[in-house]
Amino acid sequence: MSKPTLATWLRRETRLEHHRVDQHPVLKPLLKRELAIEEYATALSALYAPVASLEAALSSGLGAHGVNYPLTQREALLKADILQLGRQVQPVSHLPPLATIEAIVGTLYVLEGSRLGGAMIARHVRQVLEDQVPLRFFAAAPLQTQEWAAFWVFAENLCPPPSWPAVRESAQQAFAHFIQGLEAFVNANPTPKE
Ligand code: HEM
Repeated sequence: MSKPTLATWLRRETRLEHHRVDQHPVLKPLLKRELAIEEYATALSALYAPVASLEAALSSGLGAHGVNYPLTQREALLKADILQLGRQVQPVSHLPPLATIEAIVGTLYVLEGSRLGGAMIARHVRQVLEDQVPLRFFAAAPLQTQEWAAFWVFAENLCPPPSWPAVRESAQQAFAHFIQGLEAFVNANPTPKE
């Protein structure tokens, strides 16, 4: 059997983590046929802290390691959507610096990859809610095929196979950070009982 690429290996190795995120009760309604505006606003609000903290950690990590990668910043798009929907943004925790190249690549994989699902979510939300809601976060920065291909060239150049387990660990940590952020949001904003 031919050796997998980092792309196929990492996707396989983190499938379970992605499933935990996309099946989370706060995000799952995004693809429902009866998605309500309030559910959409809740999903965006819950995503804010993990997106903002990981983006901040990545931009300083890239700078500190002198790594030249065109990180797409979406925190401001997300914040604008949340405020337009009449919600407030949640406080953002400061993450420890990303100490290694593997940590940077694994975290980048999770944040950049989330733009792939975002484009699909944007299409669905537009179909259901039409122009009733802002869609900057999901729609304004879709990951283009050539950008994703360039990401993998960049990642494979920096991370030869012996380093892949460390890349996987940081990707799993980034997914776990999203789950923790979603959980923290739910705990801080319990749904009112009927
Ligand atoms: C309801 C929420 C979500 C849905 C429905 C969803 C759906 C998807 C879909 C359909 C793809 C594949 C797109 C393609 O190959 O063209 C994808 C890719 C991806 N998503 Fe999500 N996603 C969601 C949330 C997230 C979040 C919050 C993250 C980050 C924590 C994330 C990380 C990723 C990654 C890393 C990939 C790339 C997988 C790969 O091909 O290696 N997703 N998502």
